[in-house]
Order: sequence, then structure tokens, then C-alpha cells
Amino acid sequence: MPDMVGIILAAGKGTRMKSKLPKALHPICGKPMTRYVIDACRDSGVEDCIVVIGHGAEQVREGLGSDVRYVVQEQQLGTGDACKRAVALLGEGGLDVLVLAGDTPLVSPEILKRLADEHRSSGADATVLTTVLDDPGQYGRILRAPDGSVRGIVEAKDASAEERGIREINASIYCFKLPLLRDYLDRITPANAQSEYYLTDVIGLMAADGRRVAAATSEDPNVVLGINHRADLAHLTGIIRSQILERLMLDGVTLVDPSSTYVDFDVQTGPDTVIYPQTVIEKGSTIGEGCTIGPSTRLVNVKLGNEVTVLFSNIVDSTVGDGTRIGPFANIRPGCRIGSKVKIGDFVEAKNAEIHDSASMSHLAYIGDAVVGEHTNIGAGSITCNYDGFTKHRTIIGRNVFIGSNVTMVAPVEIGDGALVAAGSVVTENVPGDALAIARSEQTVKEGWAKQRREQKGRGG
Ligand code: UD1
Ligand code: CA
Repeated sequence: MPDMVGIILAAGKGTRMKSKLPKALHPICGKPMTRYVIDACRDSGVEDCIVVIGHGAEQVREGLGSDVRYVVQEQQLGTGDACKRAVALLGEGGLDVLVLAGDTPLVSPEILKRLADEHRSSGADATVLTTVLDDPGQYGRILRAPDGSVRGIVEAKDASAEERGIREINASIYCFKLPLLRDYLDRITPANAQSEYYLTDVIGLMAADGRRVAAATSEDPNVVLGINHRADLAHLTGIIRSQILERLMLDGVTLVDPSSTYVDFDVQTGPDTVIYPQTVIEKGSTIGEGCTIGPSTRLVNVKLGNEVTVLFSNIVDSTVGDGTRIGPFANIRPGCRIGSKVKIGDFVEAKNAEIHDSASMSHLAYIGDAVVGEHTNIGAGSITCNYDGFTKHRTIIGRNVFIGSNVTMVAPVEIGDGALVAAGSVVTENVPGDALAIARSEQTVKEGWAKQRREQKGRGG
């Protein structure tokens, strides 16, 4: 949209959230709530977006990204005052301005385009986006004159009982002609229940002066819903979550139980992947084709190849190659690069480990700060001792190595290709390739000793 500037109001503390985290940054399916508003604004074709920040300004700026301009509203004196801070950055040109609240994350590029089109084609001085709600709650009510034209907006806190009965509400999304907006922002006063400068008053003052104020009404009330407290947050998260799940299903993914599946906004999944119940797939994850994920699995920033199986497991900040099987009950911590056709079974923990193709650790192992070569087998109960109480050390295990059960590998240590380490060994020295290492005390057998002891204790037989 040429000659259209976006202004997004996000300076408020979000008092009703009762949170240390600034409201703008509360995540919804992995994305900060105000980032949804910025994305909708940009996707509608508005290139220049100004975000008004204040409460937790530096943190908000950091969290929302660098593709927008920021202006700081030092004191949160109201939506009108916030808008004024952004308008001060704009020149005298005859631009149009699209103003949005930073707490309406369901807003779509389509509805913004429609609002802008209606604003421009009608030649209005201001156009306000409205919708009709069964329960208009705390939203500002749209006041219309007998001829249907918009007369003003009254906040619920300032409304009479009769006005509170109005079900058409202000979405807090508007188009204005910039010069008029600038002019009227200078005229509003904080003479209201909240002692704030209301942006909504601009609409009433313009209408009273005979300016052309239009309304665009959204048929879908959801797209304009705002978040003021945690119950709103949960409600809107539910709506956004179903939109994400719907997209996955249309992309060919089977969700056995969408109601217990949680997927973040940017997750990509190939067709014919099946996701079982109680599965959470978080930001940054990509899943290939034909995978089986869950039940009860959490993936965070994980790249899975094709035909991967993960069940009852947790994987974070790692990559997994084609045909690998993980779980049940594996914990794959950050920094693992796991190859293809690897088998990681129950109660295996790995961290910062490079595990090459066709390696296998079927049960009860800890592999940390380590390399495991191709076709190497790690026996049950074997662990790397990567931490000496001060620093972390690496364990390098070659290809085709056989590590027996209950081997303790005290890092730093290297085990060469084709070596065999006997069960129960504590490996403290490097093992050359193709060698056998046995590092355990020799077995002593004392014939008849146990029987003798029982007899001494008076329990023969
Ligand atoms: C606002 C509207 C209301 C509308 C509702 C829709 C006003 C006076 N009221 O009410 O008519 O129905 O949105 O969701 O505009 N903000 C600032 N600086 C401030 C105050 C607020 O940047 O000084 C930002 C907030 O961070 C928030 C947005 O403006 O993102 C809206 O403010 P909020 O206090 O949530 O307004 P509502 O009471 O919801
Ligand atoms: Ca609000």
C-alpha cells in the first residue's frame, strides 16, 4: 500500500496481565503477541511500521525485531498520546496512517487491506474498524447517529448503562488522513474515567466538526479480539493454535488428536507424518516426511529428516537424520547432531554429541560432549564422564566400536575404530583401533565359600 504508514501502539504495561514480562512480548505459539500485529501490517503491504514502545522499551525492541521503526512513549498517558509520539516522526506529507493496537494478534492482512480500501474509496477522513460482539465487555462502544453515521466512541468505563448495551465495538484499528490526525491529536484532553488521552476521542471530535468518519465492519469478530489479561491470552492462543494445526493437516500431516497437539507458528512438517497425542513441537522445528512423532513428545528447535520415529521423548536444539528411531524416554539435549538410521532407546541422554549413521545405544546411556562413529554400539549402562567438577572434556569413539555394558569413559579419552571395550570397564587411557580394552578387576572365585558362610551363620542347606 503506497503512502500508507503503520503505527502500532505497544507502550502499555499491560497491568491486567500481572506480569514482569511486557505485555507486547507475551508469546502465543512461539511468537510475541505484538509481532503478530506487525506481521499482519507488513503483509497487508505497509512497508513503514512505527511501533510505540514504553514499558520495558529495550526488551520489547529486542524481542520484536529490527524491521520496524520504534518510538518511545516515556509515560503511558493513553492511546491518543501514544499515537502522537509516532505521528511526530512523520513529515508533513499527505500520507494515510493505519493505526493498530499491539494487543490484537488475530488481525489479518486481508481485513487491514479491506479497511484501507474502504477508507480510500470512500474518501473518509477517518475510518474505524468495528465488529459486533455478543458480549462487548470492556471494549469501546461505537456511537452512531440516527442516519447511521459514526458519531463517536465511548469507552466502557465512561459509558452510560444504555451505551454499554451497544454491541458494536471499536477494534482499535483505524485509518486516518495524517494531517487531520495530527491536528485532532492536539485537541484531545484526559477528561475521562481513566484520566488518559484517548485516541478514540479523535473520532468523536472529527464527527462533531462534520469531518467524514466511516466504519468498516468485520463479519468475523475473532480477527479484532484484544488481549488484556491471561484469560484472553489463553482464548486467543487456542484460536491461533487451531489455525496452525489446520495448516499442518492441509499440508498432509495426520494429527491423531488435534486437541492435545501443540505446534508453534513456524513449524514445518512434511506430508504423511503422523503426530500422536500429547505432543508439543516448538519454535524453529522442521520435520520431514513420513515421520512418527509422539505420543508424549516435545521437540524444541529440532530438525528431523524423513521417516524418523520419536516416542515419549524430549529433543532440544538438535538435528536428526533419516530413519533414526528415538525413545521411548530419551532426553536429547542441545547441540546433538544425530545421523541416519541411528537407534537411541530408552533412558538414553545425549548432550552436545555427534552421533554418526547406524550407531546404536539401545538403553540406559549418557553420551555428553562426545563423538560416536558409524555402526558403533554403546552397551546398556555405559556413560561418558564428561565433567571433572571444573571443566567439560570430550570423548571420541571411532567407527565400528563395540562398547560393552556399564563402561565408564573418563574424558578426555579416545577409542579407536574397530576397538572393543569389555563390559564394566573404567576407561581412563586412550584405546587404539581394533584393540580390546579390559579395565576392571579380575574375577575371583572361591569354591564353596557361600555355602560355608551359611553354615557358620546357622542356616545350612
Ligand atoms: C482500546 C480502545 C477501545 C477498544 C480496545 C480494543 C482506547 C481509549 N480504547 O481499549 O475503544 O475497544 O482498545 O482492543 O483507545 N497503549 C500505549 N500507550 C498508552 C496506552 C496504551 O501504547 O499510553 C497501547 C497498549 O500497549 C495497547 C494499546 O495501546 O497495545 C491499547 O491499549 P489498552 O490499554 O489495551 O486499551 P483498551 O482498554 O483495550
Ligand atoms: Ca487492549
